[in-house]
Amino acid sequence: MATMIGGLASTRPQQKTEIQPENYRFLQDYIYRESGIVIDADKHYLLEARLAPVARKQQVDTLNDLCNLLRATSARGELRQQVVEAMTTHETLFFRDLAQYDAVRTAILPPLIEQRKHTRQLSFWSAAASSGQEVYSLAMMLLEMGLGDWRINILATDLSEQILDRAREGRFMQIEVNRGLPVSYLVKYFTRQGLDWQLKENVRRMVRFQKFDLRDSMRTLGPFDIVFCRNVLIYFDQETKKKILEGIRGTLHNGGHLMLGGAETTLSLTDSFARVTVGQAVLYRVP
Ligand SMILES: C[S@@+](CC[C@H](N)C(=O)[O-])C[C@H]1O[C@@H](n2cnc3c(N)ncnc32)[C@H](O)[C@@H]1O
Repeated sequence: MATMIGGLASTRPQQKTEIQPENYRFLQDYIYRESGIVIDADKHYLLEARLAPVARKQQVDTLNDLCNLLRATSARGELRQQVVEAMTTHETLFFRDLAQYDAVRTAILPPLIEQRKHTRQLSFWSAAASSGQEVYSLAMMLLEMGLGDWRINILATDLSEQILDRAREGRFMQIEVNRGLPVSYLVKYFTRQGLDWQLKENVRRMVRFQKFDLRDSMRTLGPFDIVFCRNVLIYFDQETKKKILEGIRGTLHNGGHLMLGGAETTLSLTDSFARVTVGQAVLYRVP
């Protein structure tokens, strides 16, 4: 807010209203209920950074006011989705944890391809797909392996509808294609569109995108050969992780594989998977 001090215009720092403890707890519960994401007790800055824009959009001044809106039954629906969108982290890149893709290409797929040479069918799930880099990396890798004429079923899901819309579009900024995508893939699978890069139709149509909350029943999904569930379990508590891992186990073929993020493990959560290392990569195999 501009004020006059001694004839000079100065900018007074905006007085931030501290979020009241009961509202902090309300938001923790709300976000946990809607997404499974655990917000620790010391994440005031995170809530402020993520939810202040939502508050502004709702034309209220503080997170305390936003809590009142969220409590009002008539305000749920769209506002709930805005809060979930704001609290999810979509960080991703092409060929993230390259060693895992190498393991799939050199160790997991060759015997599977041999085994399926009559049906020529393979099935994959990217369970927290974000803007699509993970699943499109997989699709391009499969094309490079000469599997373009196989029946490849790739499902990509995420809780966030906004990010799925982006993923479906398959349009990436220069800064995004600079992260992890080999130049040869850029040239072969993308076309320039203004300042962005558009993924070609033959890759895009390999992937089916669908909204899915990992805490929901997975009984209708699968069976898959490989599930990528990377860099999302970190946001959940032990109980939720266990439930999700057991659910994923049920979607995998016997002998199927699960890929987790570098900071994630099945250890002390479930015995349903055997830990396997291939080069630098750690994978989890259904016995
Ligand atoms: C950090 S990104 C991971 C992207 C990609 N898997 C990777 O490793 O690069 C995490 C994604 O998990 C999604 N997510 C968060 N909670 C979820 C839930 N309960 N169900 C499904 N997806 C969820 C977020 O929307 C976000 O896109």
